[in-house]
Amino acid sequence: MPFEIVRNDITRMEVDAIVNAANESLLGGGGVDGAIHRAAGPHLLEACRAIGGCPTGDVRITPGFDLPAKWVIHTVGPVWRGGNAREAELLRSCYTRSLALALATGCESIAFPLISSGAYGYPREEALRIATGAIRDFLMAEEMRVYLVVYDRASFSIGEKLYERIRSYIDDSAVPEENLVAEMRRRQYNAMDDLPRPYSASAAPAPAAPGRRRKELAAASEAFEARQPAAIHPEMSSDDSLEDYLRQIDEGFRDMLLRLIDERGMTDAECYKLANVDRKLFNKIKNVPDYRPGKSTVLAFAVALRLPLPQIREMLGKAGFSLSRSSKADLIVEFFVRQGRYDVFEINEALFSFDQKLLGSAL
Ligand code: APR
Repeated sequence: MPFEIVRNDITRMEVDAIVNAANESLLGGGGVDGAIHRAAGPHLLEACRAIGGCPTGDVRITPGFDLPAKWVIHTVGPVWRGGNAREAELLRSCYTRSLALALATGCESIAFPLISSGAYGYPREEALRIATGAIRDFLMAEEMRVYLVVYDRASFSIGEKLYERIRSYIDDSAVPEENLVAEMRRRQYNAMDDLPRPYSASAAPAPAAPGRRRKELAAASEAFEARQPAAIHPEMSSDDSLEDYLRQIDEGFRDMLLRLIDERGMTDAECYKLANVDRKLFNKIKNVPDYRPGKSTVLAFAVALRLPLPQIREMLGKAGFSLSRSSKADLIVEFFVRQGRYDVFEINEALFSFDQKLLGSAL
């Protein structure tokens, strides 16, 4: 996964370069600046002193000394002054110049703190949006492992409003695990109902619970049904030949992925970068026919291809997975897809906020 948000102390990150949120003197301070100087040892201060400072929005590089990271890229974020003093431009520049300097130095991995979101008072939600925007734009053109390191839960925010909307969507939509079994049996039972086949006891739902419980289940499953989009075969159009239809039924996840990339006129790289999947993993999916990717990889591609929910279910099904109403992560993805928001990076911020696995991870 080229871009990952992780909970950690940046001084522990074993990457080629870590980025320091410094001040213009480069002579150390509190926060992440202080932590990095403490962990790197006194040679870092000597190296910074020799540089002689750094303007806001710009970058300087020193060795990492006692840090696990080979390099420290020092950048100076803007102090938040209300938003009309070029803060957004300067903050974005901290990320783009750090990435460019890391690339020029031959780094294959880099870790950022959330620059300016601490002592410099930058509103966290906006600081996060600028960080992920700059990182995403860089990764559309270059290859590097980029980490955004979140030191404490409080310093990471997708915004109260969005967080609450997602939380209430989860509360309204989740079907607790135990109801799920009854629900699936009921749907199977209904399906049996529709088919002219002899009744099969095994498909019948569990013996009906007494009155009130049965009513509750029925209400839950009605609500569940109402939220399901019409079960159409999304690829089926009226002029599809039966051969076309059967061919699509038989195709596996890999074939469906490659077909949809072609049909959208995308390049492979455009697709896997939008999915936040690295080139190596994509090539494995493409060239090793029996390789089975994890659910978060399949879901990342479905989102990158901007598939409607029925096709997302179809693509997951071809890889042996399904969208589950008892999975918080699946419901968060569903929340964004239903709103037509197919930005994997934005969805990953929300998944991270809810302690869920991010889209694009190999597992
Ligand atoms: N690892 C990762 N992130 C950290 C760590 C750490 N060890 N310590 C703090 N952070 C996070 C904070 O939680 C915050 O989200 O780094 C982010 C940036 O906060 P600050 O370190 O306060 O940096 P900034 O807001 O850019 O202010 C810079 O503070 O330390 C001084 O000398 C520095 O004057 C400069 C100013």
